[in-house]
Amino acid sequence: MERQPSQEYIPVARLSDLDARGRTVVQVDGARVAIVRVEGELFAFQDTCPHREGSLSEGDLEGYVMHCPLHAWPFDVRSGLCPVIRGARIRVYPLRVVGEEIQVAPFSGRVSAP
Ligand code: FES
Repeated sequence: MERQPSQEYIPVARLSDLDARGRTVVQVDGARVAIVRVEGELFAFQDTCPHREGSLSEGDLEGYVMHCPLHAWPFDVRSGLCPVIRGARIRVYPLRVVGEEIQVAPFSGRVSAP
């Protein structure tokens, strides 16, 4: 079945909701989703680390890689892949900005556990 992107995006926040670092956390389908500005672009991804549930939105960014604040597992915010832990990844969500509104498409793919 072909996706209908214009029908799947839901408003989750406004640009003014972003903190000084360009970050916020929202709920999408019952999941915590981090929205983070990187290199001037916004990305949405699973906030809960698959290792021991650290809040990724509180981590440190290195380029496009977010490091978990608890044990520093790194995740690429563009793909969700972890470059050092085989099989570890996080969900990433399509995001768009319409005016001042941040919209995210609920996750519909599969993620393998580490
Ligand atoms: S909880 Fe994220 S690396 Fe351990």
